[in-house]
Amino acid sequence: NWTMVNIADESIEAVRKQVGGKRAICALSGGVDSAVAGALVQRAIGDQLTCVFVDHGLLRKGEPEQVEKDFVAATGVNLHVVDAQDRFLAALDGVSDPEEKRKIIGREFIRVFEEAAREIVGEDAAEPVEFLVQGTLYPDVVESGGGTGAANIKSHHNVGGLPEDLQFKLVEPLRSLFKDEVRALGEQLGLPSEIVWRQPFPGPGLGIRIIGAVTRDRLDILRDADAIAREELTRAGLDRDIWQFPVVLLADVRSVGVQGDSRTYGHPIVLRPVTSEDAMTADWAKLPYDLLQKISTRITNEVREVNRVAVDITSKPPGTIEWE
Ligand code: XMP
Repeated sequence: NWTMVNIADESIEAVRKQVGGKRAICALSGGVDSAVAGALVQRAIGDQLTCVFVDHGLLRKGEPEQVEKDFVAATGVNLHVVDAQDRFLAALDGVSDPEEKRKIIGREFIRVFEEAAREIVGEDAAEPVEFLVQGTLYPDVVESGGGTGAANIKSHHNVGGLPEDLQFKLVEPLRSLFKDEVRALGEQLGLPSEIVWRQPFPGPGLGIRIIGAVTRDRLDILRDADAIAREELTRAGLDRDIWQFPVVLLADVRSVGVQGDSRTYGHPIVLRPVTSEDAMTADWAKLPYDLLQKISTRITNEVREVNRVAVDITSKPPGTIEWE
């Protein structure tokens, strides 16, 4: 609409003014904020921008492809992809404590991003990278007391700052916007609706939706179950009514079941659909029974290691949205 066209044009102009002829980098997380910020800055300064996507192997099915193919197709951005899956798995080996997982994922993310940034910065000594693009929104600004401080990777805000020797000036084109305005802007910029309308997703990704240690096999199980739940929610037309829909694998729990003539001894999956305004409080979402049944039947039929599906009916508080 008219207002969004204005906001887009004004922001693009402001970014051009700020960055001038210098170069910028932007970390894409797979989420909507960094995607819209990246797309907007790309419109403003074109090839002076390089986006970095660290594939930590903890994203959901199809999400890396959405960044690597669909986002690039929609924006024409220069994308630097780092396949860091093995590195993250190795660092997470045997770790089941939630906060420990967060620390490791955050630390590795910074290290990988730092390495990528050094490579990009070093490419052209005559025109070094001066700016770091961040998808900071207005609520983030308010939450952090208004100041930006050291450059930090927004979608991993539990993580802390970049190292001292990697100081960039920040470009934060979404600083005055709320989430719904960012989505409208994303549509305005022609981003795919799978990115624009994505539900919030935690920086540590599926790593904190596996209760127990993270392994490649467990990630595969969870990714398959999660994809089914998301697909059915979308098919029922309810994905925009639900704030978030974590699907959780109780990897250290097994229960007895029966399939055909044989006994199974598999893992439970927990569905955690919630409604919320801001994630501070949340209600468990009363999804239609036929939808829950469809999801349960498909998961137990299609994901071999899963023989039981449970629904979490705890509000926040006392529960949190995520299980870890
Ligand atoms: P909880 O589980 O505390 O989550 O109710 C509130 C919101 O925050 C998200 N979340 C995270 N986001 N890094 C993030 O970037 C994290 O470590 C993290 N932990 C939880 C969660 O998905 C929900 O939207």
